[in-house]
Amino acid sequence: MKSCRVVLGVMLHLVACNAEFSESICREQAVGKPLCPELFLLGVQKSASTAFYYFLVEKAALDIRVPKKLGRSPQLRKEPHYFNHLYEKGFEWYINGYGLRKSMDELAIDASPDYTAHPHCAQRIKDAMNFERLRFIIIFREPVDRAYSWYRHCHSVGLKYPNYEDAFRSFDYKFSLMAKYAAEFIQNCVQMYSEPELVFPTCAHRNSHFLYEKYSVPVEETGMNTTSFQVIGMIFTEGLYGYIMSLWFEYFEPHQFCVLIYDNLVEDARAELERIRPCLNFFGKEPVIGEDDVRLPTANVKTCENCPLYEELDEEAIGPVRKRLNERLYAKSNELLRSLLKEHNLRDSMIEWENNYN
Ligand SMILES: *[C@@H]1O[C@H](CO)[C@@H](O)[C@H](O)[C@H]1NC(C)=O
Repeated sequence: MKSCRVVLGVMLHLVACNAEFSESICREQAVGKPLCPELFLLGVQKSASTAFYYFLVEKAALDIRVPKKLGRSPQLRKEPHYFNHLYEKGFEWYINGYGLRKSMDELAIDASPDYTAHPHCAQRIKDAMNFERLRFIIIFREPVDRAYSWYRHCHSVGLKYPNYEDAFRSFDYKFSLMAKYAAEFIQNCVQMYSEPELVFPTCAHRNSHFLYEKYSVPVEETGMNTTSFQVIGMIFTEGLYGYIMSLWFEYFEPHQFCVLIYDNLVEDARAELERIRPCLNFFGKEPVIGEDDVRLPTANVKTCENCPLYEELDEEAIGPVRKRLNERLYAKSNELLRSLLKEHNLRDSMIEWENNYN
């Protein structure tokens, strides 16, 4: 298969080769053959997915295989990021990271909490894997807090890329201003569609990178023009959960998903974790869920040490920002998420973030 990839440099052929490799490899489960991941932790970022991951692979007595050979960094082991950022490395690279199957009841996981942010991941996963055997776990968190947490993360890593620095500077580094302008821009895109499954592929910054990148308007409050707007868009589009799920339901059956809610994990992790059972029982696995098993990273951290330009917003200060984002973007998307989950018997009741957080 390697020679196939070298000889055919053209993207389309590369995809064809990948599909060929996967068909012969992931559609059969046999001892001594590659062990293909069948359990996916899809997202979302900043919703305790790392804490949940460690529960799953270390505490729950499930004996789940994680990729060993993909990279030296522990992060690459947890998050292969193959179907989004590292697709060009090829399917063989990805599958080889997991090694060979040693017994029939083995299960491997791919926990890349960014897959939900990339509209093409669902299609790619469906095409490459033995799709009926896949199960997906997703954790959702109130989208404004999720966005603010990502904003905080950018500051805490020192706005590590120059385009982050530029994009943030035009808003005087303020979350409240970014929210205002991003809500406007994203909403203009969202409302172009009446079919919800079309919204995310067009309006997600990842797919429409150039649209975001080129978008430049004056920021009234700072007298500067926006630049590298995709960096700002990223903070907010990943919270469009209703549109994200309607896309995934185009590719997979509802019973292949287990959906967790961050608020419920904070309140009663043990009870909430029960919701992953169907996704594991399918593989003949029974998770052991202990009293104190998911330790969330200090929930709702609002401060940022050594972040001189960070806009610290307490509950009161974030109120108007939340209200605007909900009115423009998230209330509708949240409502769509709730109705989809209910319709597909995944959750019959769910917190109404846009009302409970106001
Ligand atoms: C912002 O963009 C406009 C239109 O391109 C330009 O005329 C103006 O000089 C820019 N302002 C700043 C502060 O860069």
